Amino acid sequence: MKLRLAILFLSLMFIIGCKEQGVQLLSPSIIPAPQFLKVDARHFSIDAATIISNGDDFTHSVDFLKAFLEQGTGRNWETNYTTENIITFEYDGAITSKEGYTIEINEQQILIKASTDTGAFYAAQSLIQLMPTDFLDSKNISEIHIPAVTINDEPRFKYRGMHLDVSRHMYDVDFIKKYINAMAMLKMNNFHWHLTDDQGWRIEIKKYPRLQEVAAYRDSTLLGHYNDTPHQYDGKKYGGFYTQEEVREVIAFAKARHINVIPEIELPGHAQAAIAAYPELGCTGENVQVAMKWGVFEDIYCPSEETFTFLENVLDEVMELFPSKYIHIGGDEAPKTQWKTSAVAQQVIKENGLTDEYELQSYFIQRMERYLNSKGRQIIGWDEILEGGLAPNATVMSWRGTQGAVEAAQAGHDVIMTPTSHAYFDYYQSENDDEPLAIGGFLPLEKVYNFNPIPQELTKEESKHILGPQGNVWTEYMKTSDQVEYMAFPRMLAMSEVAWTNEANKDYSGFLNRLEAFHKRLDALDINYANHLYEVSGVLNDSLAYELSTVTLGKEIRYTTDGTIPVATSTLYERAIPFNQNLEINTTVFKDGKALGKMFKQELIYHKGVGATLTIDKTPHSAYAGSGATGLINGIKGSDSRYGDSEWLGFWGEDLEIEIEFEEPILISEIELRFYNAPGQWIYAPKQFSFYSRFESGALVADKILLKNEAQSSLVDFKYDFGKYNKSNKSKNIKFIIPNYGFIPEGKQGAGNKAWTFIDEIVIR
Ligand code: ACM
Repeated sequence: MKLRLAILFLSLMFIIGCKEQGVQLLSPSIIPAPQFLKVDARHFSIDAATIISNGDDFTHSVDFLKAFLEQGTGRNWETNYTTENIITFEYDGAITSKEGYTIEINEQQILIKASTDTGAFYAAQSLIQLMPTDFLDSKNISEIHIPAVTINDEPRFKYRGMHLDVSRHMYDVDFIKKYINAMAMLKMNNFHWHLTDDQGWRIEIKKYPRLQEVAAYRDSTLLGHYNDTPHQYDGKKYGGFYTQEEVREVIAFAKARHINVIPEIELPGHAQAAIAAYPELGCTGENVQVAMKWGVFEDIYCPSEETFTFLENVLDEVMELFPSKYIHIGGDEAPKTQWKTSAVAQQVIKENGLTDEYELQSYFIQRMERYLNSKGRQIIGWDEILEGGLAPNATVMSWRGTQGAVEAAQAGHDVIMTPTSHAYFDYYQSENDDEPLAIGGFLPLEKVYNFNPIPQELTKEESKHILGPQGNVWTEYMKTSDQVEYMAFPRMLAMSEVAWTNEANKDYSGFLNRLEAFHKRLDALDINYANHLYEVSGVLNDSLAYELSTVTLGKEIRYTTDGTIPVATSTLYERAIPFNQNLEINTTVFKDGKALGKMFKQELIYHKGVGATLTIDKTPHSAYAGSGATGLINGIKGSDSRYGDSEWLGFWGEDLEIEIEFEEPILISEIELRFYNAPGQWIYAPKQFSFYSRFESGALVADKILLKNEAQSSLVDFKYDFGKYNKSNKSKNIKFIIPNYGFIPEGKQGAGNKAWTFIDEIVIR
């Protein structure tokens, strides 16, 4: 199929009036956007006599569409052949993409062509999205009007994935099916089912009953956030597992929707639940409990023959259930501490001529790979499997950034892209303070949408190894399926477009307008999506004025600066608000006099650093670049409880020098510095910092200040009396030397790695 650039009719015209007949047609809002879409003013009407025809082709997709139509129209649908008032499915061998299809709609018929059942299924999904959004809710619709479109479509990537962690929290089979059904609607084709982890083993393995009796349950669960101290627990037993019968049911349900289910059985780390059931699988022989809090644990499978036999037996049952070519074997976050002191592990290192525990991890993975390859399967592992030597046939799931992807693709390995920066849907999606508790980070919809899964370092040839992207849903902070939906939607919609639609045919503002229309479709599916479309965001511009914006068309922004809640008659935002005094802005989006979405509140502190020149000798990490260096003196403090917003700057393991030059010398009385502190996320406030300031008189003052964080709070907000250095002399500049905290101590998350430093507003009074 030859594709041309899509013609995007979507952004402005929601309604195409078809005047002659007084028919109101919805503008197509298909997600993911087809590669080519053309709309004309005609339409096809589905009425009581419309039938379906498919010859012998695509029976399964036709049945799928028929079931949908029968549900919406409340009548039986005949399969027959006529030339009019018909939906026709036709085989077309000229469509070379196995997942591609075309749709041609005129007044007489809807003509669908594909060369495989998958292509026909995706055509049916697009056709369903051309129906009114309330189609399923309004039974016995006598006439349904569908705009006359021409669509030529095929995916950009062959792997289009969504992941779900069911270890940290578990959801019933009906929900798993609902999730898979939504994936199918979005033309995603791989469901990565994270079935085992420290906090619970969730798949029935008949040979090992203690996995069901012991590993599937934890005695208690952490309350609140991991960074809260002291840790508190709910004291309630939690758990369960999917029976093999249920697993089969899920796989069949997914298969009917052209979705492959990839099971993940974590090894050699994230194995504490299994070791709790069978302590002999560990290196210490000691009894451990199924983990009750989140993080990385030192209990790890010992590389004994007994462990390999266990894992092979487990995988035998897994392979019996899952037809997937790929089996995910984890491989991430496997601390080597226990292997260092284990006689068994050291013996394996010696006997196999390995240099260290990293090579032992590689040995472990390669052995599992050989086993799975011998059964005709392929492994996927998280990017840590690159350390110590990559297993020969492994596909790498790149999550800690894209470096692993580049390395693997250059070495000729296939790669699936799930970097935390663009694909971790457990991160916050909004800067609103009232977002439900999440692990941390900040991944707004736009960032997901703008993800390009092909790392720029790769050549065209190397980039063929990038199979596609995947959104990951880790569920530490998602106790209910409602919460999973809130975190996964609408980011899953954005990811579907990343996976399906060519870069040249993507357009964020067009996507947002389709998403706005799509809300009704999500409502009809009873999906608890997050709606951040009607929020206001603000940014301080170069002329020190505060600009407000909102993302959808046809809305008003209204605001107040006196602390009151905006109403329909509050000041209409028309131009940036000058920032020359302290400001408290409350603002809300309105349409037709009605407030939509949440109020956005922003305090701006007009301190003496605002408008000065600030330089940092390091560039913030690309994932935490906030609003750039000047964000440290823009009058806006970052969140007290989140480090991933647009104000905090994150630096990994680096010492910093920050210099502020004032336009005119100023008299400083007090300086406030703010550091984030979240040991669970490897973020530590520095232990001390120094500063230097040159006075107008030419004198220089310097001091070193120790920071204490005895309270272990997530924010180290430190104010110091600068006046004591000089009460009357004005400063020309001030320079801070801020050493990184250093290596994370033993026993803490990320032990042995360099800590992150997060800094935000430097308030100068
Ligand atoms: C991961 O997030 N540990 C793969």
